[in-house]
Amino acid sequence: MGIEKGIRIGTRVVRSARALPSGDGIPVAPPLVQSVAFDYRSAAAQDEVFGNDRAGYVYGRYGTPTTAALEIALAELEGTAAATCFVSGMAAIAAFVDACAVAGGGRIVAQEDIYGQVRALFERWIRERGAKIIFVDATDPRKVEAALREAPTTLLYIEAMANPLLRITDVAALAKLAHTSGATLAVDATFASPVLLRPATLGADVVIHSLTKYVNGHGDVMAGSVAGSAEVAKAMRDRTILDGAYLPPHEAWLCIRGMRTLELRVRRQCETAQRVARHLASHPKIARVRYPGLPDHPQHELAKRQFGGLFGGVVTFDLKDATKAAAFRFLDALQLAASATTLGDLFSEVLYPAISSHRRVAPEERARLGINEGTLRFSVGIEDPDDIVADLDGALAKV
Ligand SMILES: Cc1ncc(COP(=O)(O)O)c(C=O)c1O
Repeated sequence: MGIEKGIRIGTRVVRSARALPSGDGIPVAPPLVQSVAFDYRSAAAQDEVFGNDRAGYVYGRYGTPTTAALEIALAELEGTAAATCFVSGMAAIAAFVDACAVAGGGRIVAQEDIYGQVRALFERWIRERGAKIIFVDATDPRKVEAALREAPTTLLYIEAMANPLLRITDVAALAKLAHTSGATLAVDATFASPVLLRPATLGADVVIHSLTKYVNGHGDVMAGSVAGSAEVAKAMRDRTILDGAYLPPHEAWLCIRGMRTLELRVRRQCETAQRVARHLASHPKIARVRYPGLPDHPQHELAKRQFGGLFGGVVTFDLKDATKAAAFRFLDALQLAASATTLGDLFSEVLYPAISSHRRVAPEERARLGINEGTLRFSVGIEDPDDIVADLDGALAKV
C-alpha cells in the first residue's frame, strides 16, 4: 500500500474508510455492503469474476453481498437451488414470465383471478406482443387440465391464495398436471407466505414472492423474488444485468431484518385473522366473510391440508350495504387500521378493491369474480386482537 504513505489530504479523504477494521466478533446483524463496485487489485481476478470463473461481486446489477445473503436465505427457506431478488414483486413476475415463456413465444395458462396488476400486465402482453396467454379458473384442476390439453404449454401460472378473494389452488395437483403436459409450474405464494406454504416442496418449479408483503412485513421495502433451479437463477441474473431491476443492498438488508420475525408475525396474524373472521361472520352489518379458516370457505379442506393448519392473515368481507358510500363511511371511521393498498405488514391495513386494485376492472367483470361495492380486504396486523376487533366494530357501527 505504498500509495498511502505521504498522500495529500485531498487524496486521503477520497480514499478514507474503504474497509472495515477487522475484529473477532461475528456481527449478529448481517453487514450492509452498499458498495456499487468492487476492486480486485488485479485485472485478471476481475476478469475471472466477470467470466463467472471465480465467485465474487463486480457491480451492483450483477449481485451484491447483502442481496446475495437474502437470496441464499430465501432459497434455503423455499427448498430451491437458488433465488433472485428484484426491486418489486411485479419486476420479479415480469422478468420470470417473460424469460420463461413470452420472449420465446411459449403458451401460458394463467389463473383468472390473479393479482389485478399481473392480469393487466399479461393482457398488455397479449395486446402488444401477441403473447399466448389464456385464463382459467385454477381452483378447478379439471379446467386447468383441459386448458393444458388444448395446446403445448410452456408455463402454468397460479397464486396459492388469490388476491383478494382468497381462493385456494391445489399446488400438488396442479404441479402433476403441469409436468404431465411438459409445462413449468410457477406459484406466487405471497398471500400464503413461506410460513403456510413452500410450493417447491409440493412440486412447483418456481416460487414467486412480493417480499414487500409478509416477508419484509414492516411496510418500508418494495421487493420481489423468484426462487427455482440454477438454470432459472441464471436466466434471472441475465435479466437483472440487462433490465436492471435488481434489488439494492439496503432493501435486501431490511428484508433480512423483517424475515427474522416472519414466523412469529404470521402465526399471530393467522390467529387473530381466525378470530376476526368468526366475529365478522356473525356481525349484523356483514353479508359474507371469505376466510379459508371458516368451514364454509369453498376450499376449507384443501386449505387445511395444504397450509399446515394455518389460514393466512387476510380476511375479505362484504358489507350488507354494498354501496360506495357505506364502504367510505367504514373506511373513514377506522381508528387503528390504515386504509392502505398493501398487506402483510405489522399493522392492520384495509383495502377497498373497487377504488384501488380492481378500479380498472369493469363493474360487471368485478361482479362476475365476486367483488362488489361492499367488498373490503382486511390484512390483520400484530396489534392486540381485542383492539383490532373493537376497531372493526366501531367502524361497522358507522356504516
Ligand atoms: C399476490 C401478489 N403478487 C404480486 C404482487 C406485486 O408485488 P409488488 O407490489 O411488490 O410489486 C402483489 C401486490 O399486491 C400481490 O398481491
